[in-house]
Amino acid sequence: MTDLTTPTCELLGIKRPIVQAPVSTTPDVIAGVSNAGGLGVLQATWLNNDSTSDIVAAIQRRTNRPFAANYVISLMDDDVNDNFDYVLEVGVPVISTFWGDPAPLVPRIHDAGALAMHTVASAEEARRAVDAGVDIVVAQGVEAGGHVWGEVSTLVLVPAVVDAVPDAHVIAAGGIADGRGLAAVLALGAGAAWVGTRFVMSKENKLPADYSERMLAAKETDTFYSTLFDIGWPDAPHRVLVNETVEAWVEAGRPPPGERPNEGDVIAHHPTGEPILRYSTDDPYDGMTGDLAAMCLYAGQGIGLIKDEKPVADIVDEMVSDAAAIISRIGNS
Ligand SMILES: Cc1cc2nc3c(=O)[nH]c(=O)nc-3n(C[C@H](O)[C@H](O)[C@H](O)COP(=O)(O)O)c2cc1C
Repeated sequence: MTDLTTPTCELLGIKRPIVQAPVSTTPDVIAGVSNAGGLGVLQATWLNNDSTSDIVAAIQRRTNRPFAANYVISLMDDDVNDNFDYVLEVGVPVISTFWGDPAPLVPRIHDAGALAMHTVASAEEARRAVDAGVDIVVAQGVEAGGHVWGEVSTLVLVPAVVDAVPDAHVIAAGGIADGRGLAAVLALGAGAAWVGTRFVMSKENKLPADYSERMLAAKETDTFYSTLFDIGWPDAPHRVLVNETVEAWVEAGRPPPGERPNEGDVIAHHPTGEPILRYSTDDPYDGMTGDLAAMCLYAGQGIGLIKDEKPVADIVDEMVSDAAAIISRIGNS
């Protein structure tokens, strides 16, 4: 098994420089990545306390390797804060934060003995995060899928951040979907890759067929960056796959909220029966019913490089062995 261990891996207690971005709450995805030598990350912002404890227990049954939990700071109300404390109490060793100021959270994370990881989109923001005590910064480029914090591409952002915080650990995010991307960001000075869309397309993530068929057919030009899907998280730029909801809005001349085509339509339902409105930030998962293809289909530009759904362990193995082969080939030429 090829490892490609970096100092950032050593800090995190992992063997391979791959962090699964928080794109899932499925224990098999998160534990699967950790068991494959990377770091699985639980998307914890939208979980209630009961489901968090069930999911954390399920992850811990599947792996004794490190994993992380992720929180969107701007969405942290009292319930999410309780959930954050719970995750620290049960000893999740790494906490990742996104979309806000991590400074007030860092002492809570460190007092619990965990590492603090925060996602940034500029060199200046990276410096502020490290000054606040953040141990690892994740530099997220604009090609990323899901919510996108900044506007700089991964190729430029990562070295700018590496230069800005030479004593901290930097992980690269955005557009990394295969071993070539991993080798590239290691060459830019990152200590690991933070990989989202590729793990969305893992076997264990069990995407509904409507979503996965579109994802597999998509090209690198088929994503759309906007604040369109805003019910649940307003004014927050995100990257999705182009679908009929996006196309109808563009054809209508990009009208503001309140005047958008078919606004207020219930287009799908959660397995609990709870309705999902058009323009909701909810994305399709197993068990939902309705017009899932019209929902918010998060995807990064790297979707154009993804041609299959495969087990998380195979994704990690292939990325690491391909990156190692590329690095050795370039080194020997
Ligand atoms: C389906 C999906 C959900 C996401 N949810 C979160 C989240 O809850 N918290 C977060 O910090 N980032 C989230 N992101 C962004 C990822 O952390 C990451 O920056 C991005 O996926 C990296 O780019 P890539 O998709 O090209 O690999 C999400 C991304 C996707 C695709």
